Amino acid sequence: MTETSTKKLQINHLLGMENVSEEDITLMLDTGMSFREVLERPIKKVPTLNGKTIVNLFFETSTRTRIAFELAERRLSADVVNFAASGSSVSKGETFKDTVQNIEAMKIDMIVVRHSSSGVPKFLTEISNATIINAGDGAHEHPTQALLDMMTLREKFGTLKNLRVCIIGDISHSRVALSNIYGLKTMGAIVSICGPKTMIPKHIEKLGVKVFHHIEDVIPNVDALNVLRIQRERLSANLFPSNEEYNKYFGITKKRLEKSTKPITILHPGPINRDVEISSDVADSEHSLILHQVLNGVAVRMGILFLLGTKTKTN
Ligand code: CP
Repeated sequence: MTETSTKKLQINHLLGMENVSEEDITLMLDTGMSFREVLERPIKKVPTLNGKTIVNLFFETSTRTRIAFELAERRLSADVVNFAASGSSVSKGETFKDTVQNIEAMKIDMIVVRHSSSGVPKFLTEISNATIINAGDGAHEHPTQALLDMMTLREKFGTLKNLRVCIIGDISHSRVALSNIYGLKTMGAIVSICGPKTMIPKHIEKLGVKVFHHIEDVIPNVDALNVLRIQRERLSANLFPSNEEYNKYFGITKKRLEKSTKPITILHPGPINRDVEISSDVADSEHSLILHQVLNGVAVRMGILFLLGTKTKTN
């Protein structure tokens, strides 16, 4: 580890990117980068969180976030417990609060939580003494996704300052979009969003983003596109007629990207719906950093777990 390991975060929990300072974001990104080196070693393990117990509390499905957190925790030598709502006493009617307080009685240090309800991570800070990390809460925030996205962009471009990033798709239902907007704006990026009118929240301009409804207006003026998944599971009404229609107007295709005079870097948080929001020739192209995002997801989570797990809480 570099001298970044002697610096301390201002935050005690990672609940979202809203109100997280530039200094804290920089420290998390720098620390994540220094853990990337550990991932290249034959033995990918350091003793940093030896003796700490972390519970992964996943009430909603996940592949990338759940596995990345578990790998990050094990590579820091923490003791890891995985909780899934199915197969637990939640199915017998136990409340969320009782479940958490029973788990906490077993002497745990940190909780990584994913839940379909916005606000659950904040609620956990009120009923638990553990350090809480939000792994995605409803349509609210997904801070570790934003941090791994920012780490990937900063690695590619050297800085986030004045980087032109457009987030495309269903902004209304996207915790990834909100966390990215907060984080990128704090880091000085120029952020825009693009999507059908039915998928753009009212008054989102107040967050300092420019709104577009036509991809063609975006492509000539951006360095990177962060393409969001169409989240059928969160749509209460059909906000567009069909996947084909969405692809026709908002799908990121090679043909559309060729309208730019220079290559555009492509991010996607995953899982991707091939040939709906992104075509395979773009997802698998040399300008796509989608799998690099996944690698950075392990490294930045190691950084976050290290920084929060070794911090003495001040309030
Ligand atoms: N990006 C992301 O959150 O993916 P998972 O739902 O697979 O964790």
